[in-house]
Amino acid sequence: MAKAGILGIGSYLPGKILTNFDMEKMFDTSDEWIKTRTGIKERRFANDDEVTSDLAAKAAFNALEDAHLKPEDINLIIVGTNSPDKLFYPATACIVQDKIGASNAAAFDLQAGCTGWVYASTVAAQFVQSGMYKNVLSIGAEVITRMMDKEDRYTYVLFGDGAGAVVIGNVDRGGFLGFELFADGSLAEHLEIKAGGTAMPFNQEALDKKLYYTKMNGREVFKFSVREIGRVSDIVLKKAGLTIDDIDWFIPHQANLRIIEAGIARLGIPMDKVVVTIDKFGNSSAASIPVSLDEIYREGKVKKGDKILMVSFGAGMTSGGIILEWSK
Ligand code: ACO
Repeated sequence: MAKAGILGIGSYLPGKILTNFDMEKMFDTSDEWIKTRTGIKERRFANDDEVTSDLAAKAAFNALEDAHLKPEDINLIIVGTNSPDKLFYPATACIVQDKIGASNAAAFDLQAGCTGWVYASTVAAQFVQSGMYKNVLSIGAEVITRMMDKEDRYTYVLFGDGAGAVVIGNVDRGGFLGFELFADGSLAEHLEIKAGGTAMPFNQEALDKKLYYTKMNGREVFKFSVREIGRVSDIVLKKAGLTIDDIDWFIPHQANLRIIEAGIARLGIPMDKVVVTIDKFGNSSAASIPVSLDEIYREGKVKKGDKILMVSFGAGMTSGGIILEWSK
């Protein structure tokens, strides 16, 4: 089977910054509460005229430039998102395909909560490894702040918008060393948007009760996330024949610094190998891991041959892990 890896990476964070002090003006909250409970100091918000496909397209252009490829070289675009441009159709990936001019690409969205980019990249790599496609764009993109109730301090302070993209193609050495994906639909109710789908089409009750916004059971999500960081890491490491000591960089989904700290305490990986961007970007859902990977790449921290463990968890509930040997 052909080897797959990352040929290029890029991200895009919208320019509007909302600090915890801005949140203090909106809610009965404090910089202190938000920082100590979540690790977040500020987050990015898309402008009112920006939609998810705009962020995704900008990240995709940056990834294409990094890979020295043209849009026409892309065979498939997968967008992992929970905040698509349109609720049902068309897929955001099709809109991205048009915006970047990837005229030879098939395109679809993949909805797996915050694990969306981990799922999308795993799927993308299978297409490359099987030989069906040469170059696949895997994008995690969100304008997730629009799915939050402006009057709900519990959820509104946590999230931020952004996009990260990678071009996945054949590599000679390194590349993806392991993937694992999981789901437990019995926990779905802990993080959901109740209205808008076939289970509850938009109606007066949905509007009155604001059921088109995110509802979250924070404590259950917290417990699940800490458990999954350890469990998923153990499984994906074991299957790749590696131990945590072999890992140079650990990139967890950026949901909450306390979740990350509890997860790594159990894993036994030192903090200087752990990538944290939640302080600057909040929880950008499916975008958080590719944005964080791009950050250490642009800073020149990640070197050829470095082994990177990425673990995510989110609505569904889903979880998943990828081990990547950096091959650029
Ligand atoms: N500012 C100030 N006070 C607040 C805020 C706020 N923004 N939000 C809630 N509170 C209050 C609550 O009302 C409560 O007050 P009370 O004690 O008078 O009832 C108090 O703070 C403590 O509330 P808890 O729910 O116990 O707070 P907890 O320590 O659990 O932290 C949090 C809440 C941050 C949401 C946490 O549960 C968490 O991070 N859970 C994980 C959820 C998550 O990461 N979601 C992201 C999306 S999912 C994903 O990405 C996988």
